[in-house]
Amino acid sequence: MEKLSPAFFIGKEGSGIISFGSGQPDLPPPKEIYEMLPSFNRFKYGLIQGDENLRRALSREYENSDKDNFVITNGASEALDLIFRVIANGEGGKVLVHKPYYYSYPHLIKAAGMEPVYTETVKGKIDIEDFKKKVKDCKAVLINSPSNPTGRVQDIETLKEIERVTQELDIPIVSDEVYKDLIYIRENYMLTGPHIITVNSFSKTFAMCGFRVGYLYSNDKELVRRVIDLKSHTSMNTSIISQEMAYTATKVPKDKLKEDLKIWEERRDLICSLLEELGLEFWKPEGAFYVLPKVKNPEKMLRDLYEKHKVITYLGEWFGAPGTIRLSYALDKEKIIEGIGRIKKYLEEEGEI
Ligand SMILES: Cc1ncc(COP(=O)(O)O)c(C=O)c1O
Repeated sequence: MEKLSPAFFIGKEGSGIISFGSGQPDLPPPKEIYEMLPSFNRFKYGLIQGDENLRRALSREYENSDKDNFVITNGASEALDLIFRVIANGEGGKVLVHKPYYYSYPHLIKAAGMEPVYTETVKGKIDIEDFKKKVKDCKAVLINSPSNPTGRVQDIETLKEIERVTQELDIPIVSDEVYKDLIYIRENYMLTGPHIITVNSFSKTFAMCGFRVGYLYSNDKELVRRVIDLKSHTSMNTSIISQEMAYTATKVPKDKLKEDLKIWEERRDLICSLLEELGLEFWKPEGAFYVLPKVKNPEKMLRDLYEKHKVITYLGEWFGAPGTIRLSYALDKEKIIEGIGRIKKYLEEEGEI
């Protein structure tokens, strides 16, 4: 079998496989987004920065912003890539990342010629003293709350302290908020300030992963200009048909998101109770749709689950969390029950329960 990696598993489905792998919502996107398809007849290059109607709609969601503070990108992934390359400016520098982290972060940071440095968390929560020690010689900070892979949400006091310290040191924060609409314990607290670069996406909130629409928002118009400049030489405009669908999604009543959140919370409760029954240790997710249980032999478990039980799981090590596996519960309840049942069978065969 090939080397196991996210690339091996992303997009795999069918033939009885239950995938707790990639984090893509199974709930359908708003049906309204398809309505314009029969009459859509644009086909030329679009603005590199993104369609004006979409940027205007987004600016209404962010206080004191205007359309020129936004760049529409191919998912949050491209926004992160462009931002780090612009911040690095060919000169390198360190980026402070809290651990466990989304697996692409170290790769994107290194691809920009920068060096990731890590601040450990306590049960997924940032240790502000460790953060303050390490942030001083960094060129940027990356915050992801709610977190992939832990599902943990940072405390508001911690976020405010991070805002304050970094502003004083004049260090930009890249705030990856792709799960901001999927929080179970409180409203989102948005990091704000002149040094904050917010990254978001239509992938998770609106279940539009494959359409590839994300964006960055920054009050630093020079940074925005440099991102657009770089994008004009790389991917150019983000797919115009996807942007039009995203624009429609911005007009969908917020009730739909609230209904979705209820479904996610029920699934969170279900998977947590099933994992508890198996005696596995984990931090209770407070947002997003991931959980990171500790297991004895993650690599063997991952392989055996895939090859013998048709269950996809991800290795915690990819997220800087050795000794764990990551489960995405973006699945309906029947599949969650069936999948955890198969994991139980594996653990019984191994004599681990
Ligand atoms: C924390 C985080 N950031 C960014 C992304 C990438 O999202 P997109 O589909 O918008 O590129 C993901 C996807 O799983 C994620 O979990």
